Amino acid sequence: MRPLVIEQSEFARRRRQLMRMAGTDAILILPAAAQRVRSNDTHFPYRQDSDFWYLTGFDEPEAVLVLVPGRAAGETLLFCRERDPEREAWDGARLGPEGAVDVLGMDDAYPWTDMDEILPCLIEGRGRVYYHFGRDTDFDLALIGWVKRVRSQIKQGAHPPHEFQELGHLLHDLRLFKSPAERRLMAESARIAALAHVDAMRAAKPGMHEYEIEAELLYRFRRHGTVPSYEPIVGSGANACVLHYRANNAQMQEGDLLLIDAGAELQGYASDITRTFPVNGRFSKTQRALYDVVLAANVAAREVVRPGVSWIAPHETAVEVLTDGLLRLGLLKGTLRQNLKDHSYRRFYMHKTGHWLGLDVHDVGDYRIDGEYRVLEPDMVFTIEPGLYITPDASGVSAKWRGIGIRIEDDVVVTRQGSKTLTDEVPRDADAIEALMAR
Ligand code: GLY
Ligand code: MN
Ligand code: MN
Repeated sequence: MRPLVIEQSEFARRRRQLMRMAGTDAILILPAAAQRVRSNDTHFPYRQDSDFWYLTGFDEPEAVLVLVPGRAAGETLLFCRERDPEREAWDGARLGPEGAVDVLGMDDAYPWTDMDEILPCLIEGRGRVYYHFGRDTDFDLALIGWVKRVRSQIKQGAHPPHEFQELGHLLHDLRLFKSPAERRLMAESARIAALAHVDAMRAAKPGMHEYEIEAELLYRFRRHGTVPSYEPIVGSGANACVLHYRANNAQMQEGDLLLIDAGAELQGYASDITRTFPVNGRFSKTQRALYDVVLAANVAAREVVRPGVSWIAPHETAVEVLTDGLLRLGLLKGTLRQNLKDHSYRRFYMHKTGHWLGLDVHDVGDYRIDGEYRVLEPDMVFTIEPGLYITPDASGVSAKWRGIGIRIEDDVVVTRQGSKTLTDEVPRDADAIEALMAR
């Protein structure tokens, strides 16, 4: 089996591809994510910037990747922290500039502290600067300072850049298409998340608290060397209707459904799964009726995924199946056609059916090109996540539906022939869920 890592050659290929797109008049500047202070000398868990990670595989803060296409003395340069035995004894090993050349395959690397001196020289003579403006205000100001310094030397013959471009415009189209190694990592990330959801189904009992189920998820994630790709949502009863519920502190009651939206992050790559199941192991007739509508929408939406189909087609399919189901159950009135035209489903289904998935859980990449929804192509990965949320105060609906929230979310990769679902290992069929929970 091939190792589950992105190899150095792939990071180098990504850098070359990006430089080819940018052209030899350009310079591309990507700072690592800043460390965030939680309080005093305690920090939030460090998470590398996804774009920086995509191009380097380097997980330290205080680093900047500079790409200078066509530069004879070296095109790929890294500024990073120097080795420092005293600091490393407290905070852990640093790669250092020498390591950046040896391990990361940079053409050259410099101490982070030399950036102020060297970067203006690299910017000088380049017409276009590619950078993420507005992501890191401190760095924005530093960059403006370096450009000003080059401008101040025009009389001495300096050529300051005259164009400033959004880096994401080039880079995010690359990130949208997943390589074989990325697809292997994402399949593994999905497999680990599926195991966690199965653990949760096995553990749940009335009387437990939502955070006890969250603990099952986290235990599984960490045992496989992953972290959560976002804060897990564990919402029982009416909490399932709160789309970004995160308190996870209620006691689960007999007769509740439990909605769990949780994914793993493996070497930066996210999975994103939602399952909804009865805390006591048996769906009530009412819960099952609504559940089967959402399940039918999930299945139908995944079935339309294949190359050449519009990005929005799975959403439109889900909306049609949900609306039809709501009409059959008496939650909506009138004809299917009129309800689709009026978007009346939005009362109970207020989000889209999916999003790109990759290094970010809501991954980068345009959904439209020139105003039109883009067409699906092989190696795109995204979620399919229809749901129905009947809030406790929903007016004009029978009381039996109120306080039920259901979402079923899977991760899908577009293949040459159609699609592959990465998250089949956690059951979604109601009978299969009941069978698993009965064991
Ligand atoms: N967990 C966030 C989402 O499903 O999009
Ligand atoms: Mn999602
Ligand atoms: Mn989700």
